[in-house]
Amino acid sequence: MVKTILSSNYSFPGQKSIYKGKVRDVYTIGNSWLVMISSDRISAFDVILPRLIPFKGQVLNQIAAFMLKATADICPNWLVSVPAPNVSIGKKCDPFKIEMVVRGNLTGHAWRTYQSGKRELCGVEMQEGLKENDFFKTPIITPSTKASEGHDEDISSDEIVRSGLASSYEWEILSDYALKLFERGKEIAAKQGLILADTKYEFGKIGETIYLMDEIHTPDSSRYFYADDFEQRQLKGERQKQLSKEFVREWLIKNNFMGKEGQTVPEISEEWVNTISGRYIELYEKVIGEKFIPQHLADDEIYEKVTASLAKLI
Ligand SMILES: Nc1ncnc2c1ncn2[C@@H]1O[C@H](COP(=O)(O)OP(=O)(O)OP(=O)(O)O)[C@@H](O)[C@H]1O
Ligand SMILES: [Mg+2]
Repeated sequence: MVKTILSSNYSFPGQKSIYKGKVRDVYTIGNSWLVMISSDRISAFDVILPRLIPFKGQVLNQIAAFMLKATADICPNWLVSVPAPNVSIGKKCDPFKIEMVVRGNLTGHAWRTYQSGKRELCGVEMQEGLKENDFFKTPIITPSTKASEGHDEDISSDEIVRSGLASSYEWEILSDYALKLFERGKEIAAKQGLILADTKYEFGKIGETIYLMDEIHTPDSSRYFYADDFEQRQLKGERQKQLSKEFVREWLIKNNFMGKEGQTVPEISEEWVNTISGRYIELYEKVIGEKFIPQHLADDEIYEKVTASLAKLI
């Protein structure tokens, strides 16, 4: 039986609070630092599913760390150290309550919107004549609100500025960073024979400086396709092989679950859990280009590593 990580409950030196996100446990240390522990929880349509996915926390944390390091020349980011496979420590930011979604291809929510006949998303026009997964002429930004409760909602840049979620000056910086990060993400993916189809970034501030925070370019925050047979599959109207959480969403939709009220999560078999875990590991190996080494640290070992890492900061 593989050990999975459900939820953590540490008490680190200087700890002020614990926030349990859908996937990560976020510990605030003093006023300036965060310890983020990635669990093996999986969420879809903003709901935490009832099964844990072995090694998912490690996969997410290590891909995010790799990508944050590979983009650090574009904009400042929150990450300071990775003391354990599923733990990151970094700077606590004051978050913008928006998600900067960048889309290179017409997929997921954008495709569902397009299919319904709409040609506009978040105030951005989508050109006529596209098929599912086709490339947009250039990547588009389709932000959403980061709701404290309930589902995130589409929002336009005008509404963001009007409602004060970001000033117009900040919006310019956020969108510039988001597009540059996406470009870099696509380059990294291309080297590995992948297409980064879409992703989302979160930003926050420390003083007046805007930081990139959270995870980036992970299977939870992004969609990837295989590049080699992409064109052929598009021409033939075949499905693209998804390297992301999208296949879980598709399976849920097929089983009548989209996170809406009154719907229940379908039974998730052991076999399906292992399939999902395998896909996460596959994505790690494809994206990073290295073999995934599963690691299990005991709770007290994690505690010691985190404490040692924090001691250098505070
Ligand atoms: N450097 C940072 N400073 C402040 N908050 C951060 C930072 N990095 C990430 N976060 C926040 O930490 C949380 C990470 O938890 P997780 O990803 O599990 O939550 P989520 O599923 O995205 O959403 P929710 O928080 O709504 O449950 C997110 O709310 C994210 O915005
Ligand atoms: Mg998140």
